[in-house]
Amino acid sequence: MTDASPAITPTGQPWPHPRQRAWIEVCEAAVQANARSLCRSLAPGCSLMAVVKADGYGHGAVPVARAAAAGGASCFGVATLQEGLELRQAGLRQPVLVLGNLTQPDELRTCLHWQLMPTLSSMREALLCQNLAAGSGRAMAVQLKLDTGMARLGAPWQEGPRLVEAITALEAVTLAGVYSHLADADAPGPGLDPLTQQQQQRFEAVLTALQEGGLAGGCRHLANSAATLRTPRLHYDMVRVGLALYGHRPAQHLGGDLPLQPAMQVRARVSLIREVPAGVGVSYGHRFTTQRPSRLAVVSIGYADGVPRLLSNRLEVLHHGRRIPQVGAITMDQLVLDATDAPELEQGAVVTLLGRDGDARIEPLAWSDPCGTIPWEILCGFKHRLPRLPVQGPGS
Ligand SMILES: Cc1ncc(COP(=O)(O)O)c(C=O)c1O
Repeated sequence: MTDASPAITPTGQPWPHPRQRAWIEVCEAAVQANARSLCRSLAPGCSLMAVVKADGYGHGAVPVARAAAAGGASCFGVATLQEGLELRQAGLRQPVLVLGNLTQPDELRTCLHWQLMPTLSSMREALLCQNLAAGSGRAMAVQLKLDTGMARLGAPWQEGPRLVEAITALEAVTLAGVYSHLADADAPGPGLDPLTQQQQQRFEAVLTALQEGGLAGGCRHLANSAATLRTPRLHYDMVRVGLALYGHRPAQHLGGDLPLQPAMQVRARVSLIREVPAGVGVSYGHRFTTQRPSRLAVVSIGYADGVPRLLSNRLEVLHHGRRIPQVGAITMDQLVLDATDAPELEQGAVVTLLGRDGDARIEPLAWSDPCGTIPWEILCGFKHRLPRLPVQGPGS
C-alpha cells in the first residue's frame, strides 16, 4: 500500500496529515467479503485467483491480497515480476502467477528464487526454465498460456497439446496450469457472445486433446470477472478475478445477484470558499461562467492525482449525501465546485469524489463512461500522491 511518508515539522508533528488534502480510503473488509461472495458463487471444485496487479487496481496490492486470501482466494495474479516480489517480500506465501511475459533468464531466475510462476507463451522460455531449474536443483512451476482469440500473449491454441507434452517432458519444470484469456466476456446480451463461444470451443478442444493424450496440464482457467459472473460453464478449475474483487461489476447486466461492495472511496478537502458575482469565468480557459451570484468551493485534488481532466464540467462530488457539481477545467492539483446550492459546505469540509457518502454513491462507471474509457482505467489511474488509508467500512 502506498502512503506519503510523513516528514517531521520543526515542532515535531508528522506532516502532512494523511487526511490533510486528498486521499483514498480502502475498505479491506469489503475485499474480503467480495472474495467470500465470489467463492460461494463458483462451480464446485473451482478456486479463486485474486488479481492484484497494478497495485491491486489502485487499492494497494499487499492489503488487498491479504484481504482476498482471508475471504477464500487461494492464489494471486500479478502482471510484473516486481509486483510478485512485493507480495513475497510482504510475507505472502500463496502461489503467485505472473500474467505478463518474462523473457530474460534473470527474470526467470528471480521467479525460481521467489517461487513465482511465470506464464509461458513458447518453448523458448520453457527451455530457459528447465536450464535454470536443473542448475539449481529445484523444480520450477510454470503455466502455459494459449491464445484462443485475444491475439495478445499465449501460444497459438492449436499448439497447445504439443506444447503441454513437451513441457511435461522437462524434468525440472512442473506444468501447474494451462490457461487462456477472453477478449469480450462482458459483451452485452444474456447468452454467451460468439467470440466467447469460439474461444471456449478452442480451449475445450485443447483440453479434450490433452485428456485423450493422457496429459494432465495442471489447473485449467479461462475466466476474468465478466466470465465468472456470466456463467459457471466458464469457471473450470479456477477463475482469475480483478474488478469484481474490488466491488465493481464489469457491465450493468452482469453479477446483479452477487452482493459486491466497492472497496475504494476517494475523498478530498475544500481548501477555499469564495463568493463571486454572476459573469465570472472559472479556471483555465474560462470553460464555465457563473450565471448568478455564486459560491465556489476549491477542492484540493486534480488530474495529477488521477481525476481525469476530461470530466471537467461533468464531475459531481458528494457531501453528506448531496450531489454538488464541479465547474470549469479540472486542473493539475485542484478543482472547483459550484456550491451555491450547498451553503453548508465550508472550508475544510470533506467531499467524496468516488465511492459512498451516506446513502449516495458514485461508481467508477460514472467517470469512465463520459471519458470514453472503462472502470479498470479509472481505478488504476489514481496516483501515489494520494495516501491509501485502511478503513473499517465505506462510511468510516
Ligand atoms: C490475464 C488476465 N486475467 C484476469 C484478469 C482480471 O480481469 P478482471 O479485472 O476483468 O477480472 C486480467 C486483467 O486484465 C488479465 O489480464
